[in-house]
Amino acid sequence: MSSCAIEIENLVKRFGPHTILDDLNVKIPQGKITTILGFSGAGKSTLLKHILGLYTPDQGSVVVLGSDLGQLSELELREFRQKFGMLFQYAALFDSFTAEENVFFPLQEFTKLGIEEIRQRARNMLLTVGITEDSFEKFPSQLSGGMRKRVGLARALVLGPDVMLYDEPTTGLDPITTKMVNRLILDTAEKYKDRLMTSVIISHDIKATLEISDFIAFLDHGRIIEYLPVDQFKETTNPLVRSFLDI
Ligand SMILES: Nc1ncnc2c1ncn2[C@@H]1O[C@H](COP(=O)(O)OP(=O)(O)OP(=O)(O)O)[C@@H](O)[C@H]1O
Ligand SMILES: [Mg+2]
Repeated sequence: MSSCAIEIENLVKRFGPHTILDDLNVKIPQGKITTILGFSGAGKSTLLKHILGLYTPDQGSVVVLGSDLGQLSELELREFRQKFGMLFQYAALFDSFTAEENVFFPLQEFTKLGIEEIRQRARNMLLTVGITEDSFEKFPSQLSGGMRKRVGLARALVLGPDVMLYDEPTTGLDPITTKMVNRLILDTAEKYKDRLMTSVIISHDIKATLEISDFIAFLDHGRIIEYLPVDQFKETTNPLVRSFLDI
């Protein structure tokens, strides 16, 4: 495996009496697409929050892009999070901002670029993800679900993230839009391959993720119980994973 973007060792997280992540170990390679699959309630979102340093482990360590998150201050963590782009299930756009303003926002917030440069970058990023000029001034309510995803992706990518996180990117979408979003994830990974951008997808949509992932990890009851290159994952004999695959 190539070098590691995310390295998690012996991660334990409890909420009250419940152990949600139970001695979890995983290494996510840089520059690849890795999907973390699992049943609802398995702990996927909890794991994601540890990768972002939003949760502190009860035990174990989380090392992302060479930084041990346990060693970072709150301020350093905030800075660290700028290395991530996130695309959520519902794109989470600002409803009162136009498409262009939504992409504009992180540049204005986190860079010292001039207004013209910001506008140019925002527009270029929108074009890159397939939003044409006639939609720049539209509000999210005036865009289709697929277009909102594209704008969300443009916003996530505009600061040039090292890691793109997709949380349930296709859940609840129709088959055509699912295909489009998958294509978008693949194209994006391809486009930023030379920068070694890492993509991590959290999902329970097995069909959608099998087609686009390099590696798949299966999370169950707070542990990774299977973790393989996608072609080998399809052939797994682990009974629980098999039952998930054969649904
Ligand atoms: N802040 C919290 N406080 C208490 N319990 C929590 C908290 N966050 C998550 N949990 C519990 O941890 C378990 C795993 O939740 P998590 O959201 O990580 O699951 P998931 O795999 O993302 O599920 P889904 O596919 O439904 O999104 C659940 O039982 C949930 O109730
Ligand atoms: Mg979740």
